[in-house]
Amino acid sequence: MPKRYTITAALPYTNGPIHIGHLAGVYVPADIYARYLRLKGNDVAFICGSDEHGVPITIKAKKEGVTPQDIVDKYHAIIKSSFEEFGISFDNYSRTTSKIHHKTASEFFKTLYEKHEFVEEVSEQLYDAEAKQFLADRFVIGTCPKCGYEEAYGDQCENCGTSHNATDLINPKSAITGNTPTLKETKHWFLPLNKYQDFLQEWILKGHKKDWKPNVYGQVKSWIDDGLRPRAVTRDLDWGIPVPIEGAEGKVLYVWFDAPIGYISSTKEWAEREGKNWEDYWKNKDTTLIHFIGKDNIVFHCIIFPAMLKAEGSYILPENVPANEFLNLEGNKLSTSKNWAVWLPDYLKEFPNQQDVLRYALTANAPETKDNDFTWKDFQARNNNELVAIFGNFINRVVVLTNKYYNGVVPEPSKFSETDNAALNEMKAYPAVISSAIERFRFREASQELMNLARLGNKYLADEEPWKTVKTDEERTKTIMYVALQIASALSILSEPFLPFTSKKLKGILKSSELKTELTWDAVEANNVLLPAHHTIGKAELLFTKIEDSAIQLQLDKLEASKKANEAAQSTVEPQKAQINFDDFTKLDLRVGTILEAEKMPKTKKLLVLKVDTGIDVRTIVSGIAETFSAEEVVGKQVTVLVNLAPRKLRGVESQGMILMTEDEQGKLVFVNPDKADQVANGLKIS
Ligand code: 2FM
Ligand code: ZN
Repeated sequence: MPKRYTITAALPYTNGPIHIGHLAGVYVPADIYARYLRLKGNDVAFICGSDEHGVPITIKAKKEGVTPQDIVDKYHAIIKSSFEEFGISFDNYSRTTSKIHHKTASEFFKTLYEKHEFVEEVSEQLYDAEAKQFLADRFVIGTCPKCGYEEAYGDQCENCGTSHNATDLINPKSAITGNTPTLKETKHWFLPLNKYQDFLQEWILKGHKKDWKPNVYGQVKSWIDDGLRPRAVTRDLDWGIPVPIEGAEGKVLYVWFDAPIGYISSTKEWAEREGKNWEDYWKNKDTTLIHFIGKDNIVFHCIIFPAMLKAEGSYILPENVPANEFLNLEGNKLSTSKNWAVWLPDYLKEFPNQQDVLRYALTANAPETKDNDFTWKDFQARNNNELVAIFGNFINRVVVLTNKYYNGVVPEPSKFSETDNAALNEMKAYPAVISSAIERFRFREASQELMNLARLGNKYLADEEPWKTVKTDEERTKTIMYVALQIASALSILSEPFLPFTSKKLKGILKSSELKTELTWDAVEANNVLLPAHHTIGKAELLFTKIEDSAIQLQLDKLEASKKANEAAQSTVEPQKAQINFDDFTKLDLRVGTILEAEKMPKTKKLLVLKVDTGIDVRTIVSGIAETFSAEEVVGKQVTVLVNLAPRKLRGVESQGMILMTEDEQGKLVFVNPDKADQVANGLKIS
């Protein structure tokens, strides 16, 4: 029975174009899903838009000397048109700077405020006195309190996915000036997530029963098990949606408060245009809501947004939140700043009319259960060995032979042999097999099953050899070509979610629109006859073309150039920091110490817990060096210790100082040793 679905795809930040990581993680799977549901006759709203608030946009604007509005206008246009050209079939692509969104998000906040769902609190927040600015989110970088990653942002650690408050960061530094922030009082509104602990626990457990992906379930469960705490949903920034209540002048909504509401406002925009009722898509219990996101968005969609929806009270909650893992590129993490990416606008320019090749390569190699690697060689192989050699080759042979033998007219079959029946029955089984994979969010598997259907067609032709029977048995040849044409037609239908451009082209070649009955997904399952005898098809056109080594080499050369540029940038010495006076220096108490014991902090990659003899005492220091040194090899080492650093807790262990380190040319950590280390006493001052 057809159902109503609201499918959302994470709103991309408008501080750069879309790259293959975004496509593989979110947009291609979401598009396959939405297209599939439509083909099955469901009522689908596939919703997205640009996420235009938040700190990354203001940072980019500052860097380029333009306004945040300039930045979002530029990238919104680039992103929107590249999605369109790539065939992502959003029903609506909106933006969070739109009027309708500002109104929707403000009203949502006001409703929660009036229901007393927020806790209002004056607290000390990180402040950059030089920049005269509070430091939230990406304006502050420091060590993650959970995993020890040293470049965690104020609201989230990209290494372990934890979402935290900026004041939880260890050794915070302003991303604007590099200064260590001070604390300053300010008022904010907090969503008391702790209040939703029981509800979320129960809901997630229910979700797990419904087969949420293990990566999603695991991350959410660990967050809940750690205990939920109130989260500020307002910020002291000048870019965002003004907090719509009195006494909140100069404050805006936290970007992660307004962005998911963007799904709702984008739906409203679409419903207004299409004469629909948006509430059917967000408030009707019969509607299935699915969020497609990347793994760094899990807590926001599985904890914070559901808590917001629950607090509001009239909304449905997502049935599933399929999040993919990350896609790497040629063995390295995708990085915008290092230009280590394949940008969608570049791809569209450099591989014109080859959208489906990238869609296919990304789907066949999607990072569904673990991080995966995109390589240009794999991309080439997927095209040349699968799309060209299997799918394209089969279609081409069927269409060329039908034109050659029968002037393009589908022949009347005679008696079906066992092989014919087996091939037709196998063909009819594919819709269910592919459906099952798509409905389980296994898009890789689904794409491979589609290719298996093309393989079936290829094998059928190779075994039955119509080019031989045509010389001896006219009736048999007609039957073979008839069966092959049915498989070609099935491919034109079942490929639509994965290869929409190819499907359209193939339907054009087969002249499917001239048939009396519409060819639907379910028709493939139900009918032996998709292309009836006497129907005339068109001429052969190549669906895919071979990608030459030279085209791949060009892409590899581009990446090599990025690598060289990065190496050159890294080898430049960091500029000197702002001057300090002698008094500043004498505040540092640096001593010679010896590491007496060391052990790995459980469940972390980077942290070693050290016992260090500082001459003053033997104390515990937690150090983020475990990726370079084993516990055994550091025992006995003499090191330089900053002993009067205020103690901080790391993973529940109090760290009482810091060991001085530097990096060698390869980026490997090296101890800053006292000169003639083995001859000096612990506790000696370094000055
Ligand atoms: O991570 C990101 O790119 C965010 N802009 C995703 C937002 S999803 C939603 F909540 F809007
Ligand atoms: Zn972390």
